[in-house]
Amino acid sequence: MEWRALVLVLASAAFCMGFGAAVPEQSLREAARASGFLIGTAVRPWALSEAAYASTLAREFNMLEPEDALKWEVVHPEPQSFDFSQADQIVDFATRHGMKVRGHTLVWHRQNPPWLTEGKYTSGELAEILEKHIKTVVGHYRGKVFAWDVVNEAFDELHPGELRSTIWRDQPGIGLAENGSSYIERCFRWTHEADPQALLFYNEAEAETMNPKSDAIYAMVRDFRQRGVPIDGVGFEMHIAHLHADVASIAANINRFTALGVQVHITEMDVALPVDAEGNARAGDLQRQADIYRQIASACVSHPGCTATQTWGFTDKYSWIGSHSKQTEGAALPFDRNYRAKPAYDALRGALEQVRSR
Ligand code: XIL
Repeated sequence: MEWRALVLVLASAAFCMGFGAAVPEQSLREAARASGFLIGTAVRPWALSEAAYASTLAREFNMLEPEDALKWEVVHPEPQSFDFSQADQIVDFATRHGMKVRGHTLVWHRQNPPWLTEGKYTSGELAEILEKHIKTVVGHYRGKVFAWDVVNEAFDELHPGELRSTIWRDQPGIGLAENGSSYIERCFRWTHEADPQALLFYNEAEAETMNPKSDAIYAMVRDFRQRGVPIDGVGFEMHIAHLHADVASIAANINRFTALGVQVHITEMDVALPVDAEGNARAGDLQRQADIYRQIASACVSHPGCTATQTWGFTDKYSWIGSHSKQTEGAALPFDRNYRAKPAYDALRGALEQVRSR
């Protein structure tokens, strides 16, 4: 056999054995290129030094978001000091690879440092701390972060429709309970002052469908729009559990929010599956997972006001679902632990290919 023929035979054998499957013909970001649709993912800075992590991230996504690096406990560890080192690494990566950056998040009730949660501040002091935090962080990334999750998960699970009790709502003068969403309003105004070009989002969990929580957010966003409070979008997290998604209700919800003149981003999508002790899911579940990815991405892509879909990480190697579920669930993302594309990946790409025609 001639040597060229031998090389060809060996190469096709390797491809058939699955070695070729790791690099898909057209990446997600290539599928989204023509339309400018944003396909993003959450990023952990220390994983950027892993070659497979970095190359998959750069090849597949045109947007990213620090998963934890911009939360208070990381970025504002002491009252007088800010630490941008982790988030800067992520933003630099995005710049080098022509990716947009979403900022997550300026105001949340979780992952706050003890100096903040345990400090006995007066209402006025707390308002000052919050304004300084927002203006310092947003100022640092002015022109680099194109969209901020200004406030995250402010509505309550147990009493849907009501604001959650947090230091921000309860304690400072900016957010006494009877003032409703006034503390949220002030956060949006401060963010806008710090970067008038950035798109400002309200981000929420379990508000993807038409339900009492999304009703309350809808009322808040409508009120903000009517009174000129600077809000540009709503983020729906889309952490899917039990392989169940009411896609018709999600589509109707996207419809009503975009009709208010705001954009919708899907911000944290993953589809958790039951897994065995090795972290493996059943083949049938991987197919059902793919269907959910396809249906939800299609619901977004087919709506002009839904401008981005983002997954909460991209490889099962680094996903919050494992620790969050005490290792009973996992395999929630489009790539497996060895960065091989799963059925969910093909489903997502199929939905993105649809975007050209929208
Ligand atoms: C999660 C991160 O993925 C974990 O690494 C961290 O330990 C806890 O927070 N809603 C959000 C995200 O808005 O910030 C959360 O991220 C997941 C739920």
